[in-house]
Amino acid sequence: MTQLSSLYLHVPFCQHLCNYCDFYKRKLEVGSNQFEEFHQFLKSSWQRHATLMKEHQFTWSPMETIYLGGGTPSLWGKMGSEFFAEHILSHFTLRPELEFTMEVDPGAWTPELIDSWKSIGMNRISIGTQTLNPTFLTIMDRAHSKEESLSLLKFCQENNWNYSLDFLLGLPFSKEKVRDIRTELDELLSYRPRHVSLYILNARSKYPHTQNMPDDEFIREEYLLVSSYLQERGFHHYEVSNFALPGFESQHNIKYWKSESVAALGPTGTGLFKKNSHEAIRYKWKVSAPEVEIENLGFEELNLEKTYLELRTSEGWRPENLTQKMKDLFNRWEEQKYGQFQDQTMRLNSLGFLMLDSLMDDLFRLEVARLVIKPL
Ligand SMILES: C[S@@+](CC[C@H](N)C(=O)[O-])C[C@H]1O[C@@H](n2cnc3c(N)ncnc32)[C@H](O)[C@@H]1O
Ligand code: SF4
Repeated sequence: MTQLSSLYLHVPFCQHLCNYCDFYKRKLEVGSNQFEEFHQFLKSSWQRHATLMKEHQFTWSPMETIYLGGGTPSLWGKMGSEFFAEHILSHFTLRPELEFTMEVDPGAWTPELIDSWKSIGMNRISIGTQTLNPTFLTIMDRAHSKEESLSLLKFCQENNWNYSLDFLLGLPFSKEKVRDIRTELDELLSYRPRHVSLYILNARSKYPHTQNMPDDEFIREEYLLVSSYLQERGFHHYEVSNFALPGFESQHNIKYWKSESVAALGPTGTGLFKKNSHEAIRYKWKVSAPEVEIENLGFEELNLEKTYLELRTSEGWRPENLTQKMKDLFNRWEEQKYGQFQDQTMRLNSLGFLMLDSLMDDLFRLEVARLVIKPL
């Protein structure tokens, strides 16, 4: 039997549907029975998941990480914490060092709600701050105000929560309306977050502000500015989109970047059962029924993913079959100041992270792919 000790649960409801967001979610209608349906979906999914685990010879071991993402998990409220405790948590034992994160929207929380989740083990909060500038909150179609963000940050600071905040770059009109990122960061950091997730806005073709997006050079400067700002204040840029004070890295996300097994529940939730370096399945929950779509992954897919995921992190990638061609390429990357090639490991820095897609192209253009993905 292979052990599973991490779970992601997708809570697909929002009060308001932000126009840039691609995550699966539905608008929560007042007086609807959407949560009852969700509970039914989760109960049936649990049964299906148990069968899937049995078929692939996986078993639960004491939980190390739990992550509730969305959508807006904080909207699930106290009812959610009771359901989660009774129908999900009751199946596990928890490690003393469990990391249990919940995404909390600044416009959808109360201290009582956070207390109810804390009472069942939640010990980390991820806040969807995005920007503190009121003009950009409106442009971004966010339902919360700057004051609501500050009130949640103050609550987290005063109650000594381990919390992370999300910060968005590349916002429409950033140039024209002169977004002052440094001032926003000064204010955010005064609340002492221990972790920051930094995302570059990824907009679809139907996005209303497609014509008003800043150019790549502007976004590149923003990203490098935030990266050096945070590093000067003790944050470690430990993954393309993530910064942490030492010891506050997201243990749950590290599991994804190390391609370790993580179970998933909830519509569109995607889990990985990894048996070994050449055998895994990835499953994704359907939206219409508590059923999964399954993808079988072999050595080549897993190894390719491993390359890409490890290059995303500051720990870097140590190829098992390092060739002279690769060494030459990595030395060139180092000369171009994209990172450091040392101890047979390529570790990218902030500039390298920013260039990751084109560096991956370099890697494969050299036909290194054949060498990268072939078993020894
Ligand atoms: C799953 S979302 C949900 C968080 C929560 N509902 C909220 O909006 O505050 C997690 C994070 O993904 C980021 N995100 C959402 N849509 C994005 C997009 N189109 N491009 C880049 N980042 C995005 C936001 O920073 C958001 O906080
Ligand atoms: S609240 Fe969060 S999950 Fe919901 S639509 Fe907005 S960005 Fe997406």
